[in-house]
Parts: sequence; structure tokens; C-alpha cells
Amino acid sequence: MPEILVIGSLNMDLVVQTPRVPAAGETLAGNGFKLVPGGKGANQAVAACRAGASVKMVGCVGADVFGDAMHESLRSAGVDTSGLVTLKGQSTGVADILVEASGENRIIIIPGANAWLEEQTALAAVSKVADGGAVLLQHEVPLAVVHAVVRAAAAAGLIVCLNPAPILPIPLEVLACVDYLILNETEAEALSGIRVMGQDTARQAADKLLAGGVDKVIITVGSTGAYLLSPEREFYQPACDVTAVDTTAAGDTFTGYFMAARLQDLDDESALRLAVAAASLTVTSLGAQSSIPTRQAVELFSQVHRPELTGQKIIL
Ligand code: ATP
Ligand code: RIB
Repeated sequence: MPEILVIGSLNMDLVVQTPRVPAAGETLAGNGFKLVPGGKGANQAVAACRAGASVKMVGCVGADVFGDAMHESLRSAGVDTSGLVTLKGQSTGVADILVEASGENRIIIIPGANAWLEEQTALAAVSKVADGGAVLLQHEVPLAVVHAVVRAAAAAGLIVCLNPAPILPIPLEVLACVDYLILNETEAEALSGIRVMGQDTARQAADKLLAGGVDKVIITVGSTGAYLLSPEREFYQPACDVTAVDTTAAGDTFTGYFMAARLQDLDDESALRLAVAAASLTVTSLGAQSSIPTRQAVELFSQVHRPELTGQKIIL
């Protein structure tokens, strides 16, 4: 099976469960604390691997205990970690995450070693991906590196998937190299100028991004599900009805599962359904990599929740 190369961030997540977010100057007793391996790049690599894809990760960690834990988490998930660089004198990235009782989170990131990923390291890895492979990127490593990789991967004929989170400007010429742009409603609004509040506005925002040269756009809309628009077709897949414990890594699980499914030759519609089911299951437990389900767990969950595809349409 063709490989997915993930070029992105690795963070140790410092997860604090709290009944609510404290006001300025207020001290509050929380409900729990956990260290969980995270980072958008690493989470997406783990998700793609648990979905059954062959995955290699390129990124940077510090020479510290969090760096060792990141290595171990990826290795035990089955990700090829030979592309990880350990930087002496840098700390592994950390993410301070407050999770409220509703499952909503607030995150502060200290990039640490992630900020030191070098273009030549990333491009060397891209040059080794075999035909038919995919490159998956996010915005938690230097933006110039992301853009250089997108250009190089497109020029090499690889499948390019960009999850522009957290949102940062993307030049049109880079956007035009992207095959799959996967983003949430906030990111879609920032890039398109259209506020996504439902299927109609998701279509308008995605249309604008397609006009910018992207091949296919997927907008995820939390508990509402996900919407895919290509020049030929559109699909809307509702999320499964679950009790949200922690939404951290829902978008990462979606992205990793979607790309793994595409490389396994599932069509867009089936890949969307699988990715939504996997992401819905992720929000039912705490943490990032600890909550990303295996393919087997997603299949079992889907039998119970039976996510049906609705609103599919062929655009003529
Ligand atoms: P995060 O930054 O929290 O990882 P995101 O903002 O990138 O997430 P979302 O749009 O919130 O992405 O969620 C991605 C997918 O996760 C959704 O399309 C849906 O399938 C699933 N999901 C998220 N929240 C819920 C929820 N409360 N109930 C069911 N499914 C959910
Ligand atoms: O998308 C979730 C991730 O964002 C967390 O694991 C955290 O590390 C931040 O990068």
C-alpha cells in the first residue's frame, strides 16, 4: 500500500479537566490532570496508522523525557519514526489544554523543537515517497517549510493534503497545489471570508476555496459532521450522536482516517463516512493520541451508530 508521509508537530499535552474556565485572577479546583502525547502532526500520523495505513512521520522533538515519550507513542502505534529529529538544547513542544465539562477545550502551545524543523530535512523525506503516496501537513511547524513541501510534493505528483490548523495565511499559488484541504468552520471562515453556519454556508465557503485552485475541500463542523465539495460532487455526512468528553484530536482523527481511507482506495464518500465515525468515537474519551480509536473499534462503533450519508448530490 502507498505510504503517507506526515510532516508536522509533536507535543506533550498537559491536560487539565475543569468544571469551567477560571476568570482572570481566579483560582479554581480542577477535576483531573493527565500527560498525553499529542501534537497535530503526531496525532494525524497515529490516526492514519490506526486506520491501517503505512505511515512515516517527520518532525522534531527535544532531548528530554517528553521527546522519548513522543517517540514511544508513535512507535507503539506502528508509525515509522526514523524521520524524527532529536534536537539538543531544544525542549519538546508542549500544549497546555483546559478541558471543560462540556468536552470543549482551550489550548496554548509552546512549539519548542517543532519551530526548528528544517526545510531540507522535510524535502529529503518527500523525495523518498514512492508514486501513489501522500503527504499530510498542518500549521504547527514553520510555515515556510509547509509551503515548500506542498510545492515539492505536488511537483512530484504525490497526493497533497493540508489541514491548515492553526490558521495562518496561505498563498494562492500554494493553495493551488493542494489536493485535499481539510479544515474546520473557523478556519474555513478565515480563508474564505464566509461564516459557516450550516450546509449552505459550508458550500459557499468551500466553493470559494475550490475557486482558489484546491481540488477538494472538506469542512468539519464539530457535532454536526463534515461536508465535502469537489468540482463534481458534494457530500454531507452527519456526525454520530455521542456524549462528548473531550473533543481534542477530533479533527486530527478525521484527517488521518480520511487520508488512510483514500490511500486504501475507498472513494471520497466512504472515506468521509469512516472519518466521521472515527472522529465521533474520539470525542467520547479524554486526550489526544490516547483517544484515537483503532479501525476495528471504529467498525464496531459504526455497526451500532450506523452513520448514514445524507444530502449527497452530483453537481452537473
Ligand atoms: P479539534 O481542534 O477539537 O481536534 P476541529 O475543530 O479540528 O477539532 P471539529 O469540526 O470540531 O474539528 O470535529 C472534527 C470531526 O469530529 C467532526 O466532523 C465530527 O465527525 C467529530 N466531532 C467533533 N465534535 C463532535 C461531537 N461533539 N459529537 C460527535 N462528533 C464530533
Ligand atoms: O489537535 C489537537 C492537538 O493540538 C493537541 O494534541 C495539541 O498538542 C495541539 O497541537
